[in-house]
Amino acid sequence: MSLQTWSRRFLRQLRGANPFQGDWTPTRVPLFRFGRPSLPFPHLWNYREPLRILDTFFWATERETGSGKHNRYLAVPGQPDVLVTREPAVIRAVLSATGDKPGQFDRDTAPTAGIARATGEDSLLYANGPLWRRQKQLAAPAFSRSNLFQPEKFHEFEQTFRKTVAKRLELLRARQLASGQRVTRIELEPEITVVMLEMLVNNFFGGSVSYEELRDRFVPALVRCIDHMVRDTIAHSLRAPLDIITGRKRSLNRAQAGFESLTDIALAGRTNGLGLWTEFKSDATNDALRSNIRVFLAGALEATTSFASWALSHLSRAPHVQDRVYEEVKTIDVYDPENLEQAVTLNRVLEETLRLTPALYFLPRRTTVDTWIETADGRKLFIPERTHVVLDVWHANRCEDFWGRALTGYSAEAFAPERWDTFAQQGRSAKDILHFGFGYGPRVCPGKYLGLLEVGLVVGAFVKIFRCTAVHAATRARAGVSTKPADGTLVDLELR
Ligand code: HEM
Repeated sequence: MSLQTWSRRFLRQLRGANPFQGDWTPTRVPLFRFGRPSLPFPHLWNYREPLRILDTFFWATERETGSGKHNRYLAVPGQPDVLVTREPAVIRAVLSATGDKPGQFDRDTAPTAGIARATGEDSLLYANGPLWRRQKQLAAPAFSRSNLFQPEKFHEFEQTFRKTVAKRLELLRARQLASGQRVTRIELEPEITVVMLEMLVNNFFGGSVSYEELRDRFVPALVRCIDHMVRDTIAHSLRAPLDIITGRKRSLNRAQAGFESLTDIALAGRTNGLGLWTEFKSDATNDALRSNIRVFLAGALEATTSFASWALSHLSRAPHVQDRVYEEVKTIDVYDPENLEQAVTLNRVLEETLRLTPALYFLPRRTTVDTWIETADGRKLFIPERTHVVLDVWHANRCEDFWGRALTGYSAEAFAPERWDTFAQQGRSAKDILHFGFGYGPRVCPGKYLGLLEVGLVVGAFVKIFRCTAVHAATRARAGVSTKPADGTLVDLELR
């Protein structure tokens, strides 16, 4: 940014002038105000509660009637402006205008700086512009629907995935039987994490790591590295000395070494032509692929664990829905695309889970130049160069104006897979009603179909064997790289 542009912005910020123009404009969030949930930016004392930081932007907006109700901005003199939106039409417009063409939005790298330091800056997740395009062409086709859902390929994966899940559930079942108790109290999230990593490392990347080693070595290493990525994003310069003083440095080094070994294992499948690698046609060196493999391992583990943990967490509080899913899956042995499509309730549970509790709760973007966006209904908004744009999917999906009783028949805050029946009756499909659970537009999630297959399989196979009941009537969300149920999906488990 030139000195002239910076000075203009600084003076405008001092005057308190609104930087946005157009058919509608966001309203300003004060930097300080008594009684709010948090300050409207991350710092050392609130970074572990990002959802509260986002709450701050929409705090006390119920009575607003204009576009400021769903579109807010923060302007701190000398810093880039921050626009936070929870309006689906605006989220869609920004996601559609993200990419590598001149003037398009970048993915904002500020909230993922810690991820980039741990995984590499040239990954598909972190890169922008021509480098992102190259990475996309290199890595994304292997995950595409047309590739994974080819009948032969699909059956191969489905079979190995299903065997892995069945083996783990069998162990859980045997534990339950051996205990002699009708009911076992258990946190499901740790179990889900190992199964998700096992599918990814062994079934997908062709590794052959034992369950015990995944559980005792690699899952703790990855969880430690992911936790570090979140801290490192906020407190990079403070972190290094603090880690040495508190002795965290040694345990972090061990965890990072574990992460690297796992990346080596995933890449070794390529040399031996195993798993997904048989579909991967490229002469890129392993070194050129490393950062993407790290992102796939850590990112996919986070996202699929979040998704499956939330789905089972919601089902554990909705016994009638759980029974309906059971009726659908009790005769399903093979999760091929046809069977999955027929499991209507299971599909709606997955859709509703991603709506109410999206794994990725905000999508960060940044303008590269002064930019006009246009929503599908023709409204235009001017966003200045280098504005951080936070697409607040969490609050968009919980907003009564977009998902509430008037439109769907159910409160926006409720887990109600039935709302998707209302949409079906209205002739609207999930494609028209976007919850952005996998993003949207050019930077949509390349792992969508792999993730859906894995999570559908885990949830379906679980409900077929067990009935689970939540221990607590409700749970908060814990948010880091992704959201998870704060109670670890603590349930009482019974065999069906
Ligand atoms: C099933 C659970 C998953 C969920 C809910 C999920 C969600 C998302 C979302 C919302 C985005 C868009 C981020 C943005 O627009 O800023 C995204 C991007 C991405 N996801 Fe996923 N994901 C899942 C599984 C996976 C898997 C299994 C992989 C790979 C093995 C993966 C790899 C990626 C990558 C590399 C990107 C960045 C794509 C780009 O920028 O072009 N995800 N994911």
